[in-house]
Amino acid sequence: MRKTDTEKTDTTKTDKTNTKTLKIANPDFSEHYKNHDAFGEEWTKKFLEYVDIPLRKSIRINTLKISSDEFFRKFTYDHDKILWSDNAYFIDEQKIGLKIEHAVGLCYSQESSAMIAAEALDVVNGNVVLDLCAAPGSKTTQIAVKNFSGTIVANELNLKRAQALIANIYRLGITNCIVTNYDACKFPELFKFDRVLLDAPCSSLGTSRKNKEILKTWEYKFSLAISKVQKKMILDAFSHLKKGGILVYSTCTTPPEENEDVVKFLIDNESDAEVEKIDLKVNCEKNEYGIRVYPWHNDTETAFVSKIRKK
Ligand SMILES: C[S@@+](CC[C@H](N)C(=O)[O-])C[C@H]1O[C@@H](n2cnc3c(N)ncnc32)[C@H](O)[C@@H]1O
Repeated sequence: MRKTDTEKTDTTKTDKTNTKTLKIANPDFSEHYKNHDAFGEEWTKKFLEYVDIPLRKSIRINTLKISSDEFFRKFTYDHDKILWSDNAYFIDEQKIGLKIEHAVGLCYSQESSAMIAAEALDVVNGNVVLDLCAAPGSKTTQIAVKNFSGTIVANELNLKRAQALIANIYRLGITNCIVTNYDACKFPELFKFDRVLLDAPCSSLGTSRKNKEILKTWEYKFSLAISKVQKKMILDAFSHLKKGGILVYSTCTTPPEENEDVVKFLIDNESDAEVEKIDLKVNCEKNEYGIRVYPWHNDTETAFVSKIRKK
């Protein structure tokens, strides 16, 4: 059977790279974080320790096709409810992406901390939602299941990744989603949206449990460069929001330059942008710009999520 996109990105499960080697291979990472006021030696040690702890597999049940109860009656995996996301579970099957129930769209394999952003968006069924950086569609499909009477515009710049997005939308049987192919720094003025999700391209350091290679290749100068792009994107994203609407900005990385600094940039430039509290059952660190989830909070990967209201 052809591997799904989700499964293809999952090949790092078999990565036998030793973290000790990584520390030597990329002193840029450890030195930067050990000497950083906001992180320090203890943080760096803990972050690197978690890289070697296997990540639990997690799925969302596609309730457009099957209820969670019925799914687990048919497919008897051991499972634990994920407290911060609807119809989401840790399961005891690492290769779920290769199973028939996944292929026919009864479930979607998604890392559990990556589920926080779409939950923070507080989608109300019937909303018109813009997902600006959408491929391969984890969050688009998560939103679509909640917003089955509404409309979702799922945008992706990279055409190959847009194909994976379309395939996942199709697999889950979602019919209220339009896929577009624009640069999220200048998405065309169309109409205003109730909700906008900007799950920005980032340095992805927080995916290091799944993809150890990221620690080898990370460079601070990349974070500084992508931060400039993220700032353009967040201004554009906010411009497409209705008054009273919600923008969620999220990344799977740790540098403040790609997280808090980007949200602060928006707040400094748009007087009607206001950060709101994220009210989810997830252990995290909170600051005035959003929440940070680290592996030791909930035994997941890393995420930054900010919820911003247009006053
Ligand atoms: C973090 S990933 C998105 C993951 C996706 N939201 C999900 O949950 O499955 C960021 C995406 O942004 C896309 N991207 C990068 N630059 C972009 C741009 N200028 N405009 C639109 N999309 C872009 C990347 O190709 C990548 O697919």
